[in-house]
Amino acid sequence: MSSNSPERAADTGHDTFLDQTLRPSSWDDYIGQESIKNNLHILITAAKERQHPPEHILFYGPPGLGKTTLAHLIARELGGTMRSTSGPAIERVGDLAALLTNLQPGDVLFIDEIHRLSRTIEEVLYPAMESGILNIIIGKGPSARTIELPLPPFTLIAATTRIADLSAPLRSRFSGGVFRLEFYSEDDITNIVRRSAAILGVEVEETGVREIAKRSRSTPRTANYLLKRARDFAQLKRVPLSKGIVESALGLLEVDELGLTPLDRALLLALIDRFHGGPVGVSALGAALAEEPNTLSEVHEPFLLQLGLIERTQRGRVATKKAYEHLGKKPPEDLNERLL
Ligand code: ADE
Repeated sequence: MSSNSPERAADTGHDTFLDQTLRPSSWDDYIGQESIKNNLHILITAAKERQHPPEHILFYGPPGLGKTTLAHLIARELGGTMRSTSGPAIERVGDLAALLTNLQPGDVLFIDEIHRLSRTIEEVLYPAMESGILNIIIGKGPSARTIELPLPPFTLIAATTRIADLSAPLRSRFSGGVFRLEFYSEDDITNIVRRSAAILGVEVEETGVREIAKRSRSTPRTANYLLKRARDFAQLKRVPLSKGIVESALGLLEVDELGLTPLDRALLLALIDRFHGGPVGVSALGAALAEEPNTLSEVHEPFLLQLGLIERTQRGRVATKKAYEHLGKKPPEDLNERLL
């Protein structure tokens, strides 16, 4: 990933603070993902009526689309506290036990990157999710005993960018629902940028808002990041945030008209020049670009697929006609056969 992408942008602390400020704190402020919001509304309202926490929920999809924000909104609506952790942070069974036994009735436990939980931890999580019981093994060898500790009623909300890496038994325990977050429409992103600009007190022209939305990879986190960087640029120039300012600011960040970053373009170039347009596996692409294959497949590929610049075939990734055209290159004659 390039240094000027939101995931790897130097965090000044102030930006993190701003991200918290921009995070919607009510359902009315949360733009888009209508189908998920409707489903959650029914799930939560019915659970409240029964005076019991909703069943466990799983969100998946590319980074930056609002999985954590949805978890916050659910916890807020339920009136409980949200305890946040992540798959890699839960190293030992004791870590999970400490989290679970500290929950109050009606709390939400949020586990980000749940695909990174070890199998041992998963085994402890199953009965906790299913029957609200924590099995603790005391001692070793023949004298080992299991104690069953009842847990307060709680809702587990988990998020992942890699649904395929979740074991089937774990996936099936999210009986409240497994929801895939979609990329946002340009109109929705435009509304998000307009809202964020108002919160930040930035004077922004409508054409500027549109230009940011257009280059934001259909992703609110990226849209807010680009808005803040364009705002810096406008502030130093002592001018309002116009389309021209956005073009200059994003030009400096090397974010092009489609929203592609230098690494997106490097990926397409490698695919076309080094692998003759593909098909090629993601590990070979990762090696060619000196990037983690996971970063490519979780952060970069979903958007390139969404734009129709690459396709995923049985034999690997293939550059499409649109990718050649975007880079000003001539597509090969046999492109259609490769896409099979
Ligand atoms: N900021 C991040 N995601 C958002 C969303 N879905 N709606 C409004 N603001 C957001």
